[in-house]
Amino acid sequence: MNAKKISSEISKPPKKPEESSVVMTEMVLPSDTNALGTIFGGKVMSWIDIAAAIAATRHARRVVVTASIDALHFLAPVKVGHVVHVRAMVNYAARTSMEVGVRVDSEHPLTGETTHTATAYTTFVALDEHGRPTPVPPIQPETEEEKRRYFEAIKRRESRMRLAEDLKLGNE
Ligand SMILES: CC(C)(COP(=O)(O)OP(=O)(O)OC[C@H]1O[C@@H](n2cnc3c(N)ncnc32)[C@H](O)[C@@H]1OP(=O)(O)O)[C@@H](O)C(=O)NCCC(=O)NCCS
Repeated sequence: MNAKKISSEISKPPKKPEESSVVMTEMVLPSDTNALGTIFGGKVMSWIDIAAAIAATRHARRVVVTASIDALHFLAPVKVGHVVHVRAMVNYAARTSMEVGVRVDSEHPLTGETTHTATAYTTFVALDEHGRPTPVPPIQPETEEEKRRYFEAIKRRESRMRLAEDLKLGNE
């Protein structure tokens, strides 16, 4: 590794989670729904992927790709005409990868009542101009909530890596 590359790896200043956070607001249209008039899971997954990709790109200021999305549970149906809020934030940045947490809530348009729809933990990897993983800035959590998310993200990363190792062993 040459000196220029080493200095580019160690010179990235940390960034705060709020610098890259994303809030996306959508409305559920008839074309987004099934025969019961509730949203398709795939539509919510698409919004999660987009919001998380924007947050990861803002953090890295690089092209990013989705490496994985942890188990995703839909907690409540969302009806046509309801408003959906998708909030994404970088919880933790490792060397080239970032965990982006995404929370989805729905809002009844007439009453304003909100319901938690889903929470997802996604991992994005930053790529250089040759399509190879490239270093990202570290995350500097500031609030108690950001610190809690940061340490929980480290634990999830460790468990993802253990699972990947187990699956590799199972394939041998
Ligand atoms: C994600 C991808 C770039 C990783 O490439 P790779 O050659 O395995 O890279 P490495 O082994 O050097 O790992 C690079 C980083 O990715 C992370 N990573 C790799 N696979 C991962 C996975 N399945 N889940 C979470 N993180 C993963 C590694 O932990 C590492 O993170 P770190 O540098 O922060 O420690 C590659 O698998 C890829 O291009 N996948 C397709 C992505 C894509 O097209 N997504 C769109 C939907 S198909």
